[in-house]
Amino acid sequence: MKNVKIGIMGMGTVGSGVYRVVEQEGNYIAHKEGMRLEVKKVLALQYSIDIPEEKKAASVDELANDPEISIVVEVMGGIEPAKSFITKMLEAGKTVVTANKELIAKHWPELEKVAKEHNVGLYFEASVGGGIPILRAVSDSLQANTITSVLGIINGTTNYILTKMCDEGGDFEEVLREAQRLGYAEANPTNDVDGFDAMYKLSILASMAFHVRLPIDHIYREGIRGISKTDIACAKELGYEVKLLAIAKREGELVQMRVHPTMVKTSHPLANIKDSFNAILLHGSAVDDVMFYGRGAGDFPTASAILSDVICAAKTAEHKYMTFMNDEVRISPTLCFENN
Ligand code: HSE
Repeated sequence: MKNVKIGIMGMGTVGSGVYRVVEQEGNYIAHKEGMRLEVKKVLALQYSIDIPEEKKAASVDELANDPEISIVVEVMGGIEPAKSFITKMLEAGKTVVTANKELIAKHWPELEKVAKEHNVGLYFEASVGGGIPILRAVSDSLQANTITSVLGIINGTTNYILTKMCDEGGDFEEVLREAQRLGYAEANPTNDVDGFDAMYKLSILASMAFHVRLPIDHIYREGIRGISKTDIACAKELGYEVKLLAIAKREGELVQMRVHPTMVKTSHPLANIKDSFNAILLHGSAVDDVMFYGRGAGDFPTASAILSDVICAAKTAEHKYMTFMNDEVRISPTLCFENN
C-alpha cells in the first residue's frame, strides 16, 4: 500500500480538523483509496489539540527538508508568512494543498508558476465553499459546459447575520456581537462583513468557471454594514430576502463580477439558504442550472475538502495547471444591479 506522508502548516480550527479526520477516517481511506495517509509533521505557533511531540516541527525548513513528506497542507491563512512558506515547499518539490482564499485570489499565477517549474501541484478546493466540492465540480464534472453565471452565498458569517436579522428582527450591530460571541464572526469582522472574503472566493470561483483570470480589482464589493432591520423588514413584506450574493456573469465576451447585498425573491432557491450555510447556483450551457449546498466553513467540512485534494494529488501522475483564456473576454467596468 502507498504511504502518503503529509506536513501541516497551521494548527487552528481547520488544521486540527485535518489531523483528526486523518485519524478517524485513515483506515477507511486506506481501504477505499489504496493509500495510507499519515500526518508526519506539524508546524504551528500554537496547538489547539494534543499532538505528539515528535510530530512538532521546529521550523519551516524541517518540513521542507523532510524527503518523506510529499504533500504539505497550508491552513495558516493570510498572505505572509503563508506565501513564503508555500513557495519554499513548492521549490522543495512538495505539492501544496491550501485553504487560503486571499492568497490564491491575489497570487495564484505566480504560485502556480513555481508549482509548474517544480513539477508539483497546487490545490485549493477548500478555499471556496468550505466543504462544498465546488471547484473540482467546475473544473472536472462540468468540463463540457460553457458556464455563463455563478450566483453564490459564499460567506457563512454574513449569511448567519442576515438570517438572524430577518428571522429575529435584530439590529446589525447586535447580531454581529452575538455572531462574535458564538465564534462565527472574528473580533475584527471586516473581512466577512465588508465582503472581502466573498470577493476573494468569487475571484477564484469565477476564474475557474469561465477559464479567465479574474482579479479582485475587477470585482465591485459592498458589504452588509449598511443593512438595517427596517431594510430587511421591508424586503420581507415585499416577498424578498436580503442576501450577500457573489455574482459573476458572462454574456458573450463580457464578464461582470460583483459582491453586494441583494434582494432575492423568497421563491428563489438561494433565498432559503439559512444560518451559516453556503450555496452556489451555476448555469452551464449543457447542464442548465445546478446548485451546490453545504457547510462553507468549520473544522471537519473544510478538512473534507482539503483531504480530497490530498488524495487527488497523491493519485495524480501529472498535475493540472490552469490555462486562462483572457483574450476571449472583456471584464466589464460597468455595474449592473438588476435582480436576476
Ligand atoms: N469567514 C468565512 C465565512 C470562513 O464566514 O464564510 C470560511 O471561508
